Amino acid sequence: MGNIELAVIGGTGVYKLAALDDVQSHEVQTRYGAPSGPVRVGLLNGRRVAFLARHGEGHSIPPHKVNYRANLAALKQLGAARVLALNTVGGITDDFGPRVLACPDQLIDYTWGRISTLCEEEGSEVLHVDFGHPYTPSLRAQVLAAASARGVAVRDGGCYGATQGPRLETIAEIARMRRDGCDLVGMTGMPEAGLARELGLDYACLAIVANWAAGCGDAAEITMDEVLANVAAASAGLPDLVGELARG
Ligand code: HPA
Repeated sequence: MGNIELAVIGGTGVYKLAALDDVQSHEVQTRYGAPSGPVRVGLLNGRRVAFLARHGEGHSIPPHKVNYRANLAALKQLGAARVLALNTVGGITDDFGPRVLACPDQLIDYTWGRISTLCEEEGSEVLHVDFGHPYTPSLRAQVLAAASARGVAVRDGGCYGATQGPRLETIAEIARMRRDGCDLVGMTGMPEAGLARELGLDYACLAIVANWAAGCGDAAEITMDEVLANVAAASAGLPDLVGELARG
């Protein structure tokens, strides 16, 4: 099957794309196993768009247990070449407060113990893919253009720090990340971005800031209620943005 204009991976708080019409569900098997759930393929603005909930539609798969390889391979098998990753994050620096949408251009990987390459299998070719620009520059430009065409405010740039989770970070950990240059913190940005590059997929992140990270802004205790309320509010413009992006 070809002609999927865009694949979207939803993060915490984004478990479906309600705007999709004529949805068909695909239970895909890949050489890396099963993805997090069915891939929903439907029409948005007349274009075929695929959607996959990274943590499962019932949010039952923690960040370190997501089968990132299977998720991306499943989208590629269905014919997707462009992947927009929605990642719920905490904000570290001043411009990245709750409810901001951001399209980061850099990342730092603090995760450990996750399968982070396709080169795991005996006899597989060792790839040293270029990763200087971890998000595909042309797809980032398309995301920003789609956002501006539809009047959706998206911050251009920023550095995403990927942590192991599922617990949130200590104040000292976030202070270190700030010193390292991180603007955003989330738990799912890696190995997904690196695997997408190995698979030859265009990949960009749209980060949804759900809370101030520990010790930042006016952060008090971070609750799941706060996270989900801010994601819901910040996601209002997503159908428009995704629909515009799907136009190509
Ligand atoms: N830290 C890590 N991941 C997150 C956060 C956070 O503060 N908020 C939402 N995802």
